[in-house]
Amino acid sequence: MKTILIANPKGGAGKTTLSTNLAGFLARYVANSRASQDEEVFLWDLDRQKSALHWLSQRPAHLPTISRLDNAKEKSGKGWLVLDSPAGLHGEKLSDLLKRVEKVIVPIVPSSFDLAATKLFLHELAEEKAVRKGKAFVAIVGMRVDARTRAAEKLDEFLAPIDLLVLTHLRDTQNYVTAAFEGKSIFELAPSTVAQDMIQWQPIIDWVLRDQA
Ligand SMILES: Nc1ncnc2c1ncn2[C@@H]1O[C@H](COP(=O)(O)OP(=O)(O)OP(=O)(O)O)[C@@H](O)[C@H]1O
Ligand SMILES: [Mg+2]
Repeated sequence: MKTILIANPKGGAGKTTLSTNLAGFLARYVANSRASQDEEVFLWDLDRQKSALHWLSQRPAHLPTISRLDNAKEKSGKGWLVLDSPAGLHGEKLSDLLKRVEKVIVPIVPSSFDLAATKLFLHELAEEKAVRKGKAFVAIVGMRVDARTRAAEKLDEFLAPIDLLVLTHLRDTQNYVTAAFEGKSIFELAPSTVAQDMIQWQPIIDWVLRDQA
């Protein structure tokens, strides 16, 4: 199973937003693609707050299926697994998880506090064996970024010296909030409403679907 971990120890960085939307995208992708029709999409919520599972419980039945996974033993078959992780993830727990994933996406909000809190984590991630040996690939997504603001500039400055792939910036929009309330991903909202978001998501999609990062 192709497994993607969404992680950032800073609370509120956008992990659950990214996880649920990625799972929503993958569910549509699998349902619409002939080559992937025998694949399933799973969401595993490692956070005790269970926000991702709450979202899944709200998901309308007619939408492409996302299955919940609660335990590594259930992990079998073909398909995709998105892992939403809790704030504070680091150390041994992080190392253990990295052994099971192919890709890691780190959402980062461009605030002074978030950048400071994420810095150590990015260094820790880069030092992890799975990452150093090219078994787990890491990419960053700027979250709630409004281009042409000082915050966006600060994020670019922060990321410039860091040798990690920056995929895209996602804007701050109520689309994510609306979708979350309805158990949907933004891929399931009216296309005219999310046109700009679809463009911003494309690099994430390309990277996730690519065999090798
Ligand atoms: N791009 C965005 N535009 C608007 N709101 C957003 C965006 N990304 C995240 N949010 C909102 O920010 C809040 C925090 O996001 P989210 O819950 O995804 O973060 P988290 O990293 O999972 O938090 P925690 O560490 O508590 O698990 C949520 O209310 C979410 O709806
Ligand atoms: Mg969360």
